[in-house]
Formats: sequence, C-alpha cells, structure tokens
Amino acid sequence: MTRPLLEVRDLTLWRGARKILDAVSLDLAPGETLALVGESGAGKSTISAALMGLADGARVEGQARFDDVPDLIALREKGWARLRGRRLSMIFQDAGAALNPCYTVGSQLSTVLRRNLGLSRRDAKQRAFELLESVGINDARARMSAYPHQLSGGMQQRVMVAIALACNPDLLFADEPTSALDVTIQAQIVRLILDQTRAHGASCIFVLHDLALASQACDRIVVLYAGQVMEAGTCDAVLNSPRHPYTKLLKSCVVEIGTEQLDPPEGGVPGYDDLPRGCRFASRCPRAQDRCWSERPPLAELAGREVACWNPEDAA
Ligand SMILES: Nc1ncnc2c1ncn2[C@@H]1O[C@H](COP(=O)(O)OP(=O)(O)O)[C@@H](O)[C@H]1O
Ligand code: SF4
Ligand SMILES: [Mg+2]
Repeated sequence: MTRPLLEVRDLTLWRGARKILDAVSLDLAPGETLALVGESGAGKSTISAALMGLADGARVEGQARFDDVPDLIALREKGWARLRGRRLSMIFQDAGAALNPCYTVGSQLSTVLRRNLGLSRRDAKQRAFELLESVGINDARARMSAYPHQLSGGMQQRVMVAIALACNPDLLFADEPTSALDVTIQAQIVRLILDQTRAHGASCIFVLHDLALASQACDRIVVLYAGQVMEAGTCDAVLNSPRHPYTKLLKSCVVEIGTEQLDPPEGGVPGYDDLPRGCRFASRCPRAQDRCWSERPPLAELAGREVACWNPEDAA
C-alpha cells in the first residue's frame, strides 16, 4: 500500500467521564473512499469532528498523521485555520442549516475562493460559476444570485459540495450528506460527491447510515460500535463475509427488515455511562464469552480484514 494520506492511531475522546471514542485506529490511502458505518450514537460524527478540530469541549488523545502534518490532534487553532476548508473539508448533513441564509450562493462560494485561494473578485466569481456548473446546477449564472432558501434541498446540497471542493482539498468528510434529502435525490447526490472527489483526486471519509450505499459507493469500510472499531477492510470482504458478530447483525437487519437503514430492532448503542471494560458489544452479542466482558479484544488481522473479537464468526 502506498503511504496512507491519513493514519489515525488510538484516537480516544472523552466528554467528562464518558469515553465516547475508545482507541479508534484507521488508515486512508490517497484517493480512497472510506465508509464509516454503525448505528446512531456509534461515534461516527465524533470521529469526523475530532479529525477536523471541531470537537469542542472534549478531551482528545491519540495521534492522527495527515500527509505532512505529524499530528492533527496536537494542532492549535492557527494550524487548523491553514488546513480547514483548504486541505480538509466537510459536507454536512443539513445543507439548509450549514449555508448562510443572508448571502447569495454565488457570494458564499466567491468568499471561500477569495479567502482561501486569494483570487481576485472577478476570478472568484468566474470560478464560482464554473463550480456551480460542475455540480450540476442548471442555469448556474442565474443561480449565483439566489439565496439558499430559494433552492431545493438537493440543490442546496449541490452548493455545499461545490463549496467543500472549491479549494481542492486532499480529504473530504461527508457526514450523512444525504439523510435530509428525498430518497430519489439521495443516490444522485452520493454519485455527485464520489464523481467530484475523484475528479479532484481527493480522499473521502463517508459517514453513512446505510450499508447498501456503503458497498456501492466506497472502497473500504470501518464498522463502529459505541466508539470502538469492530471490523475494517474492503467493502467486499467485510460485507460479503462478515467475521464480527456486530457486522453480521447489521447485515442481517438490512436483509430481514428489507430496509437499508441500520436500525436493529432490539438494543441500540448502550449508554456510554455503563459500558463493559472489555468488548463494548458484549451486552448484545450472541457469541459473548466470559473474557469478552473484561478484556478488550485487539483489532487483529483475520481473513484479509481486521476484526476486534475473541470469538469471531466462521467464514460465510
Ligand atoms: N457535543 C456533544 N456533547 C455531548 N455528547 C455528545 C456530543 N456530540 C455527541 N455526543 C455523544 O457522543 C456519542 C456519539 O455521538 P455521534 O458521534 O454523534 O454518533 P453518530 O454520528 O454515530 O450517530 C453519543 O452518545 C452522543 O450523545
Ligand atoms: S469479543 Fe466477544 S462480545 Fe465482542 S463481539 Fe466478539 S464474541 Fe461478541
Ligand atoms: Mg452522526
């Protein structure tokens, strides 16, 4: 493997006495798309917030090398100002809330371009127009002077994609970028994000709540439960033949309930106040053994992927 663009090691995040992320490690190659999946409350958004320096009020430990930046976790606000929006960028879940209602979309895009790339007013306007066209906004010239509320949800999210990619970032975080949209529009926006990140040569961490989408859209997958990585590998290996009981549970929900959403019928992520010392999945795991409660299983190589489990599933 070429040198990863991002190497996260033992990322641990505390909010008061609650350990929200517990030693999360993951790698991302240049140009690669990684799906981060798990039920609500698994810590997906917290990982992206920590890696964007946006986890306000939390105590963060561990290391995260990003290209030539030795450790994102150790960065101060000044260092972040040089990275955010330029080399690291983010598409949020709700474009309607993330866009500023008081400025036209043309002016919001131009501002990003002028501030981060130092373009002149005229060049920024021209580039903003080209970016809006590239994300499939019809009649982009006229849309430049539209306010966000004058656009549909899908169009607003297209504008967010244009803003996020305006400065050719090396890494894009897309945090459930389509969950506020109609199902019919979701696939279009996912495709747009993937096409655009590829066109810009960026890597992408796609926070998803949908396994089918993850397998279609991403190269590799990290399955997260209560702030611990349970299984990680290519989408092909992990989703076709899951070896972690939690991945298997998630996959069976998709099949049995006939929904693509990850909402298993029983349980859910347990409260962070009362977690076992060992494997955090133990209270819901049909394969749990005594040691699972007290000893945390390390993330270890198994059948071409990594699995954190003392008693993994057999090959499918
Ligand atoms: N700003 C915050 N303050 C306190 N707790 C938070 C905050 N953000 C997230 N959490 C808690 O952290 C846990 C993980 O949340 P989150 O990362 O949003 O999960 P996901 O994105 O996977 O749904 C949840 O228990 C959530 O309540
Ligand atoms: S370590 Fe134990 S409790 Fe955790 S998933 Fe594996 S078998 Fe289940
Ligand atoms: Mg989230």
